Amino acid sequence: MIAQLFQRANAASPVYALGLGLLLLLALLSMLPALLPALPVAAAGIAWAMHKHGLPLHHFLRSRGAWLAVLLAVTGSAGWWALADARAGEAGTALALGTAAITAASLAYLTIEGHIMRSILELVPAGQRDQLDSFLSGSDPTAAAGGAVADLSGLDPAQVTEAIRHRVVGQDAAVDTAISLIFRRARLRRPNKPVATLLFVGATGAGKTELSKAIADVMFRRNLIRVDCAELSQPQSTQRLIGAPPGYIGSDAGGWLCREIGRCRTGVILLDEIEKAHPDVLTTLMALLDEARLTEQATGTTYSATGFVIVMTSNAACSSIAQVVAATEDGAERIGRVKDELKAAGFRPEILARVDAVLPFGDLPRSAVAEIVGLYLLTFAADVGIELQCVDAALLIDLVQRREQVAGYGVREVVRLVEGAVVDGLLDVRDRGYHSAAVAVDGERVVVTGVE
Ligand SMILES: Nc1ncnc2c1ncn2[C@@H]1O[C@H](COP(=O)(O)OP(=O)(O)OP(=O)(O)O)[C@@H](O)[C@H]1O
Ligand SMILES: [Mg+2]
Repeated sequence: MIAQLFQRANAASPVYALGLGLLLLLALLSMLPALLPALPVAAAGIAWAMHKHGLPLHHFLRSRGAWLAVLLAVTGSAGWWALADARAGEAGTALALGTAAITAASLAYLTIEGHIMRSILELVPAGQRDQLDSFLSGSDPTAAAGGAVADLSGLDPAQVTEAIRHRVVGQDAAVDTAISLIFRRARLRRPNKPVATLLFVGATGAGKTELSKAIADVMFRRNLIRVDCAELSQPQSTQRLIGAPPGYIGSDAGGWLCREIGRCRTGVILLDEIEKAHPDVLTTLMALLDEARLTEQATGTTYSATGFVIVMTSNAACSSIAQVVAATEDGAERIGRVKDELKAAGFRPEILARVDAVLPFGDLPRSAVAEIVGLYLLTFAADVGIELQCVDAALLIDLVQRREQVAGYGVREVVRLVEGAVVDGLLDVRDRGYHSAAVAVDGERVVVTGVE
């Protein structure tokens, strides 16, 4: 037990161990009454030595070591005097001193066993000691920065999936895989890792960015940090993320991404069109993918991203990926072939190696495009305060066909077209006092008519 005590005191500071050793020695020696007066002198000497080493004296005097040394000293001296008195026939004082010695010895025993003056650090579960030790010693800046945890326990996975499927149409496989992975990983609470790292690849305008936004909105209280990698194509672009090196102009402004991570603490970091980032930028982002940390250049402050889902999107090899998705039934085989296509298109393998899941987005079928058009028609009408009673099939067919006929004509353009075609008509109908409307096609023209 004494050895254990020394071990702990030594772990805290060798000076504490030395102090404890000297006090215990004195406590033992004080059993010889002739040496008793030496005790205060030696204690004062130890106090001076500790003060010189910069250790707060009151900490040591209230420590287990000091308390134990005093108890042992009392046990020794009271026991010695009790024996002496008993021999001299003074039963009364011998009994009193004997009782004091036994009480002090019992207290010392209880202290050693940890029932008295138990250190708060000993109450920390064994599995968390390393984390606490590295935090207290200041050797782990991530812990010092207080990596947040994404707590999704209040969300129902089925409801979340339903809400996101409603918003991102026709990509059920990607939606389901992403949501279940995020829920599973959030429960795991991996230290020094992002909640999950996902790569969305495939056809343009298929909903990759939309799914990232939907995840942020539904699961992370709209906390989305969007990094447009197309704007980070220069080597010096890293400064936008992690600030300029010390001494450079703008170094005191810090890094935008670092500040955003510190502000949001949990959420989605969207690295949009990752293949367009400069290699230096990718090197900087690797630490984020590997260890969920980003260090600001000027200050050296490390920001922890353990509470974030990292989503990368890419257009690389999108047409061949769309073909692979259409042609491959088996999930594992499909992902393998998608990765091969990405590598063949020059996608950096070290990024592929760091993602938890590659999710290919297939080209949207006609029914999905029609549904998206409907979704936006209803949204525009609701924004204006009009209820749609009837939509001409010709309008839907025309919009879907336009997307199919023109190469690279993504859903994005179709949505713009819907907006351009109906919003003015809806506003006119509202201004004329209607609350409901019907949308029809007359030749090339879209006509919105008020309905009683
Ligand atoms: N599956 C979808 N469900 C609902 N809306 C969609 C879907 N796909 C695209 N959209 C609509 O089209 C717009 C563009 O989609 P999004 O930005 O997600 O495309 P993307 O896959 O990221 O394309 P890119 O690779 O060109 O960036 C979205 O704002 C959304 O309005
Ligand atoms: Mg996008």
